[in-house]
Formats: sequence, structure tokens, C-alpha cells
Amino acid sequence: MTKDTTVLLNEKRIFNPNAETVEKANVKDWEAEIEKGKDFKRYWAEKAEQFHWFKKWDTVLDDSNKPFYKWFTGGRINLTYNAVDRWIKTEKRNQVAILYANENGDEKKVTYYELYLAVNKFANRLKNLGVKKGERVAMYLPMCPELLVAMLACAKIGAVHNVIYSGLSVGAVVERINDSKAKILVTADGTFRRGKVIELKKITDEALLRCPTVETTIVVEHTGTPIKTSDLSGKEIFYRRFMEKETAECEPEPMESEDPLFILYTSGSTGKPKGVLHTTAGYMVGVATTTRNIFDIHNDDLWWCTGDVGWITGHSYAVYGPLLLGTTTLIYEGAPDFPGPGIWWEIVEKYGVTKFYTSPTAIRHLMRYGNKYPNSYDLSSLKVLGTVGEPMNPEAWMWFYKNIGGEKAPIMDTWWQTETGMHLIAPLPSTALKPGSVTKPFPGIDADIVDEEGNSVPLGKGGYLVVRNPWPAMFRTLYKDKQRYLDTYWNKIPGVYTAGDMARRDEDGYFWIQGRSDDVLKIAGHRVGTAEVESAFVSHPAVAEAAVIGKSDPIKGQVIKAFVILKEGYKLKTRLMENQTKLIEDLERHLRYELGPVAVVGEIVQVDSLPKTRSGKIMRRVLRAQENGEDLGDTSTLED
Ligand code: WT7
Repeated sequence: MTKDTTVLLNEKRIFNPNAETVEKANVKDWEAEIEKGKDFKRYWAEKAEQFHWFKKWDTVLDDSNKPFYKWFTGGRINLTYNAVDRWIKTEKRNQVAILYANENGDEKKVTYYELYLAVNKFANRLKNLGVKKGERVAMYLPMCPELLVAMLACAKIGAVHNVIYSGLSVGAVVERINDSKAKILVTADGTFRRGKVIELKKITDEALLRCPTVETTIVVEHTGTPIKTSDLSGKEIFYRRFMEKETAECEPEPMESEDPLFILYTSGSTGKPKGVLHTTAGYMVGVATTTRNIFDIHNDDLWWCTGDVGWITGHSYAVYGPLLLGTTTLIYEGAPDFPGPGIWWEIVEKYGVTKFYTSPTAIRHLMRYGNKYPNSYDLSSLKVLGTVGEPMNPEAWMWFYKNIGGEKAPIMDTWWQTETGMHLIAPLPSTALKPGSVTKPFPGIDADIVDEEGNSVPLGKGGYLVVRNPWPAMFRTLYKDKQRYLDTYWNKIPGVYTAGDMARRDEDGYFWIQGRSDDVLKIAGHRVGTAEVESAFVSHPAVAEAAVIGKSDPIKGQVIKAFVILKEGYKLKTRLMENQTKLIEDLERHLRYELGPVAVVGEIVQVDSLPKTRSGKIMRRVLRAQENGEDLGDTSTLED
């Protein structure tokens, strides 16, 4: 982290927008748009007009019970109606809505009309299964069209979806299903990963032994792997059967603006994962507006967001943003370097991708293979690029800009979070860019950098990143945990939203994100909670106590460094008597089983004690400082 900051401080390059891009842009004058956004209620109300409303809203923003903000109250709207149904009455009816591709070279094209039929069937079947408005439906699926069908079907009837990333494993799946009390689980036989099939069905079979609320499992026949019906059968239905003979008409539920749309779990530094709750109308307005203006969407675009639908990036920018604009969204199932490191560029060339949104970790990874791969493909269709998830190193920015964007496609480095639902700090194609900076708040957003008391810090000084005014796609609470919502985001610095990041602003008012202010890890751009990782370690029979911190990694950003206290009789380096496996390998395997490949372990060290406060809280800050050879800081609360 410290190293990065120094690099950023010296970064002085500026890339002015090219005239051709600005000429065609939806928003040609960035500063003027920011000015317009100052009257933020009016700004968002104007944007809300783009949708079909069953009943228009009475109040744009109800802030009578801060920070429980309500947007567009009194209005009635349906997301799926706006993202799908609306287009089949236009020339987009036979346009491809979802373009699916995978590592085997398979492709599927689903037009808006076909999507409409599939969503209706799925929605009707959910109703037949007794799913009511407000009830939760969990999904544990690969990147495949059926995942989007299931999400849109929920939104059509008012069920609340809870998508679980397919790279998570048994323990994480159980936790998320149980917390949301999902009634239905939609899964698949498996997912393709580097020439192998990861059998998701096997994972859900194990998980379901511990998930009493799930009444029915719908299994998508995705990879063609023979599916073993589990003992929980009778409750299992195969997707193809499920969709047979169902009527293809389904009336959209006229949802209230503030009705819940989905829950998405994200990790924190303490306790169990947080169920981030998003609602209907404001979320639609926020994601559609940011997609349109930041990526400058037009009718002839082919949009590709590489983020998995299992995370917020996929929800907002692979599914809802593009479909609400009637765009074709490409979803790709597979790794960025399989069967070879040119695969992404091959896809860009093959389909003529125009807008491409990815992560710094992917760029760093692909950069390692050199220029030869991107240079052997025609990437001239690309018009706007984007990144999200962690700070973009200027070096990776330059590589992306030159080799992928051909020095003509601007890079939109977008700062946002699962909680914010939409981009909050990001440039537009008409913005002058600085490599590594997320530039300025999106029009309508009042972000600031403050000290612990909430006072703005001077330019150039680091501080806490906060947002002073509400925005439409903001999460409304943590599911069933209002107190944690208040404590984590609103009570730390009263009156503002505290994001949990550190940042600074340069002399032009450009924002530079420095990293998390809490203990949350960022592994390959994914938020991994220290609490979950530590619990996974402690659930292994050999471990008495564990503390984890992030260890810098040139490609993944961070990986896990764990300090473990072992139970009597165990040593990290010795072999276990029974199965002859080294304990260290067994711990790694255990972590993968509980959490999935997201939890990348870099190092495990055995210790006799951990630094703790007098009240028994692990001081990860001390471990981190020790790790980086820094000053331990204030240790007056340290127990020993
Ligand atoms: C955290 C949110 C939002 C989708 C992906 C991650 C970090 C996000 C940037 C960026 C520097 C970034 C922050 C933030 N982050 N975007 N452009 N530059 N850092 O969502 O899992 O909710 O993580 O990701 O630390 O708080 P998430």
C-alpha cells in the first residue's frame, strides 16, 4: 500500500480526451454535467423519466428518516418490464440481448424476444412453486444465460434474488442461503474452468444438508456432466423440464419503488458476511445512468463486462445496466488466459466488442504475457475501456491504454462498492485522465475526503473517503441487521456515508484511492473478509486461533497471510499420522473447501500468541506493521 502511494504521488501524466470520442459522446461537457448534478434531486428525477412507470413517483427523495433514505416514493415500476418487455415492441425485438461465450469456443445468442419468453416461463414456474413477492431465491450458477433468466424472472414477480458467486464453496454457500432464508435454489451441474468441470451440484448437495429453508432446487443442465440426483430429490427439478410447456405470458408485478430487488453478500472485517440490500427504482436509475454516460452507450454497441454476475459488478454492469439500455451484453465463462493468454483479445476481435470493462488484477495478469498477444488481434473496435475493484497502477494503466485501447480508447477507472450499487467516482469519456486516478465524483455525487471528525482535509492529504449526499442506487440496509448498517457506514463519522477506503485529492481535485481503511482484504479485486477466513481456519481441528492479514502480491494485489496458533500436539511442518498429508497443505485444502478458490493463501506461519487489545480483539494493524517493517504505531491498548 505504502509503495503504491509514492508512485501515485509522482504521477503527473495527463491524457486529454480525443475530439472524435467527445464529438459522439452522450455527455460532451463533463464540468457542465457536474454543475447540473449539483441540484441532485432534479438531476436524478430527470434520469428516472427514461423508464416506463406504471405510476409516477410522488417524491424524488424522502429523507425524513436518515440514513434510511427512500427514492421515488409513491411510484410503481417493474425492472424486468423495463429491461426486457419494453424492447420487444421496438426494433430491438430480434437483437441479441445476451451473447454467451465460453472457453470451449461454444456460443449462444439470446435475443430480446427469446429472453422475454424464457423469463416469463421461469417466472410462472416460480409462482407455481409458491414463491411470493418478497421471498428469496438463491442462485449458485456459472456465467450462463440461465442465471440472467432466473434473476430477471425474480424481478418480474417481485421475488428477491440472492446470487452466490460460483467460485465460493460449501461453507460460504450455506451461510448465505441460511441468512437469506432462501426457499428456492437455482444451480447447475457444473461450470467450465481451465479445461475442467467444477461440479457445482456436488457442492450444493453438501451445502443443502445444512440449509433447511430450501424447498426446491432447480438444476441447469449446463456442462452436460451426468447429474446424480441427490437424496434430497423430489425437491429437484431439471431446468429443461422446468421450462417445458409453461405459458409464455406473465404480467409484470407493479413494484413499489422501494421494494427489495436483491440481496448480495459481501465480506467485512468482523462477523458474518453482510447482506447488502438493494431496492428497485433507485437502483435502476443509478445503474442505467452510469452505464450510459460513463461507457457512452449507443445502439450499435457490443458491451463486455468481464466481472462475474456473482458479484455486484456483474449485477449492475453485466446484467441490469446494459439490458435497461437495450444493449447486447457479452458474458464469458472462463479464465482470462485459457486456453491461452490471447483468448480475451480473440473474443474482442471475433465479436467486435466496443466497450470493455474489467479489473486491474486481470490487466496485471495479462500484461505479464507481454504485448505479443494483444498485438496479434485487431482490437480497433474498442472505443471505451474501464476498470474496477482496486487501485489501477499507472504502469498497468499505460499498458492497457497502449496495447488494448490503441491510445485512442479512454480508460474509465470507476470507484464504487457493493453497497453503492453504482459508480460513484469515475470519469466520463470527455474527461482528461491521469493514470491511477478515479478522477472526480459522478454528477450528482458529493464525495469528500475527511479526518476522523469529518472535516475536509487539505488537498494532497490522505483521509477517509465519504459521501455527503444520498444517491439513488445506494443500498438501503444490511439484511436483518440495521444496527450493523448504522455502525459500519453511518455512525463512524456522523452525517456522512463512510466507505471504508482511504483516499487523497490532488491539486486539480482528482481523487486517488489508497486502499481500505479497515481489515478487509482485496484478493484479485474481490473483497475477502478477515473474519470469514479466520473462522474457516479455526474450523479445522488443528487450529486454536488464527489472524489473517493481506500480503502484497504483484498480480492479485493481495493474498492471505495467516498467523495460526495450533492445538497441542500439532506442528505446521510435521506430517499428520493418519493420512500423511502435511498440515499446511491440509489447511489450504480446508480453506478451499470452506470458502472456495477466492481465498488464496500466500503464507501460513505458526505462532504462540497473537497481539490483542485488552478486550481481546486481534490487532491486525500490529501484524501488518510488523510484516511491512513499519513502526508499530500506538500500542498502548496492546495487552502484552
Ligand atoms: C471496494 C469495494 C464495486 C465493484 C467491485 C468491488 C475497492 C473498487 C476501485 C477503484 C480503487 C477500488 C475499494 C472499495 N475499489 N473500485 N476504481 N479504485 N479501489 O466491489 O467488492 O464491494 O469492493 O473495492 O476498496 O471499497 P466490492
